[in-house]
Formats: sequence, C-alpha cells, structure tokens
Amino acid sequence: MRHIRYTFSHSSTDYYFAGGISNLKDIVDLQKTIFITDENIFNCYQKKFSNWDTLVIPSGEQYKVQATADRMIAQLLEKKADRKTTLIGIGGGVITDITGYVASIFMRGIRFGFIPTTLLAMVDASIGGKNGIDVGVFKNMVGIIRQPSFILHDLTFLNTLPVLEWQNGFAEIIKHASIKDAVLFKQLEESSIKKYQVRKKSLGELIERNVMLKSKLVKLDEFETGDRKLLNFGHTLGHALENLYKLSHGHAVSIGMSVAGLISEQRTGFKDSGRLIALLDKYGLPTAFEFDSKKVFEILKMDKKKAGNSMQYVLLNKIGKAVIKEIPIDNLEKWIESIASAR
Ligand SMILES: NC(=O)c1ccc[n+]([C@@H]2O[C@H](COP(=O)([O-])OP(=O)(O)OC[C@H]3O[C@@H](n4cnc5c(N)ncnc54)[C@H](O)[C@@H]3O)[C@@H](O)[C@H]2O)c1
Repeated sequence: MRHIRYTFSHSSTDYYFAGGISNLKDIVDLQKTIFITDENIFNCYQKKFSNWDTLVIPSGEQYKVQATADRMIAQLLEKKADRKTTLIGIGGGVITDITGYVASIFMRGIRFGFIPTTLLAMVDASIGGKNGIDVGVFKNMVGIIRQPSFILHDLTFLNTLPVLEWQNGFAEIIKHASIKDAVLFKQLEESSIKKYQVRKKSLGELIERNVMLKSKLVKLDEFETGDRKLLNFGHTLGHALENLYKLSHGHAVSIGMSVAGLISEQRTGFKDSGRLIALLDKYGLPTAFEFDSKKVFEILKMDKKKAGNSMQYVLLNKIGKAVIKEIPIDNLEKWIESIASAR
C-alpha cells in the first residue's frame, strides 16, 4: 500500500493506494468506527463488513437527501456514536457525499474517511471535501466543504462494478483530461474501457493520475474562487439534466460536456469538439439528448454558478486548456436551444 499526505488549507488527507479494508486496523480504532454503505455494496461484500459496525442505507441518488441524513443521525445516536467516532463511507459518490455531510453536521463535526468503490468515486467524488445532499431537482444544493481525514483505495471492489458505472467514471476522467491534461486525453483516445479492465497496472496509474490532478486543483483553490471551478466542466447543464430526467451522473455530465464543447466553438474558437464527442462516444457515453429546454433553464437559473443575469460557464480553449466565461443567461438559453435542436 502506498501512502501520500495532501495538505489543504485547514487539514490534511491521507491517501492510501492499492490497499484493502484490512489496512484500516492501522488507521482507525475498530471500536470507535462506523461504516456507512449502501445495500448493493453490502450484499456483494458481506464478508468484508463482518467485524465492523455497519449502517446500511438504500442505494441510489434519490436517497442523497436530508430525510436519509436524518435517519442516519438517529441510527448513529442509537449506536451511541459520539465525538470520538469515525465514520467511513464505503461506496460510490452518493455514499461519500452523504457520509461526509452527516459526519460534518453530527455533533458539529466528527472524523470521517472514505473507501470509494466506484471508479467515479475513486477519481472524483471522494476527493476535495465537497459533501452534500440534493433538494428536489436541485443537485448538491445543501452541503459543506470539509476534507476527509483519509481515502483508501481497494481496487478489488471494481471487479463487481457494472459497465454503466465504468462509463460514468470515465466521464469524469475525460473531463479531467479535457480541462487540464492533453497527454491523458491522447492516452484515452488510444485505449478503451476493456483495455483498462484487463491491464490492472494501467488502470491503477490512470486512477492515481486523476486523483493527483483533482487534488492539485483543490489544494490551490479549496473554496472554489478560481481554478477549482474548471472541474465544473459539463456539470452546469449536466446537473440540471441529471435529476430532471433521472440520468446517471456520468451520462448527464457527458451530454453537458458535449454541449459545452459546441458552445466553446462559438465562444472561444475551440476546434476539437468533434474529438471530444468521439472520445465520449468511445467510452460508451451519450453526447446528445432530447430535453425540454424551458424546464432545464428553470433549474439552471437556480444554479450556484449563476450571478445576476449571467452565468460562469466552463469552456475549452483547446484540449487540456479550460477557461471560465461569463455568459448572459439569454445567450446561453439561445445557444443551448439551437444546439439541442440541431442534433
Ligand atoms: N463531492 C464531489 O466532489 C462529487 C464529484 C462527482 C460526483 N459526485 C456525486 O457522486 C454521485 C455519483 O456517484 P456514483 O456514480 O459513484 O454513484 P452511486 O454512489 O450511486 O453508485 C452507483 C451504483 O453503483 C453501485 N456500486 C457502488 N460500488 C459498487 C461496486 N464496487 N460493485 C457493484 N456495484 C457498486 C451502487 O450501489 C449504485 O447502485 C452523485 O451524487 C454526484 O453528485 C460528487
């Protein structure tokens, strides 16, 4: 197991790569630790959970809400959790987001760590300390930025990951490559999900490269006043589509990135939206979707990135180089409508 410590503004996070649940004995006190997982993962890995006090919640984005957090808090009280308790979220992004959120509000904040079990949670959701819940159709509307004390990767969890979840993970990997890493973009063009599944060494390297890329952006701008915003590439439209049409996170972000690529052609002179769309397609991700732009715009107008009558939108100058542009909402609405009807 490889250990790296990343220091953020108020705290640090220990990353443990190529580890296993058994390594936790050296990181936390078994008597004072509660696992949080979802029913799918619990059913697949019951053996791994024996010996650990575990709280199981239903699986799915629709449970990333305050009612689930309230039930979890009631169960933590029943289990006599206190300020010395550590919560460990073992699961995908829904579990890491809600575990970090509950740990941050329970008794005004207790220690928490993650064992991400989806590719998406490994390369993205577990990193950076954004913990939160959805409110109706509004994604991540309530939450807090607070770093986990550790993140441990056990790649054996990926053996049971359905193909849709591999695709979702690659949506965020392609996002990272598009905004910051042209070399990675090229590597992805030359590879495929199947190749990464077979070549475990390349997969491990790919995951670490993405963890480092995101961690570096977060470290430089933990509270999202500058470059961290680039990570929202594809997410503004993506988030609106995700909850409105019950799309998976990666699929929604993929559509959002395709549209942002096409807007970039008009706004920044970006020339490679064809390459971006072809790469998303290669990783089984959707690049077009019929949607009701009126309904989508009602949600976009409530987005956290909106200020006054304009919105900060992440676009591409070229592959590996993203920029933030202030776009008047009216223009955005017209562009998105024309792109949606032309495809
Ligand atoms: N906090 C952040 O910075 C951040 C970043 C990106 C995404 N997110 C959030 O992450 C969520 C999406 O994460 P996700 O795609 O991991 O979704 P998820 O947590 O819903 O997991 C997807 C599905 O895979 C199942 N699963 C998980 N691990 C498995 C395994 N090893 N084997 C078999 N099945 C497994 C789950 O039970 C679930 O059904 C969204 O809520 C999104 O908003 C947060």
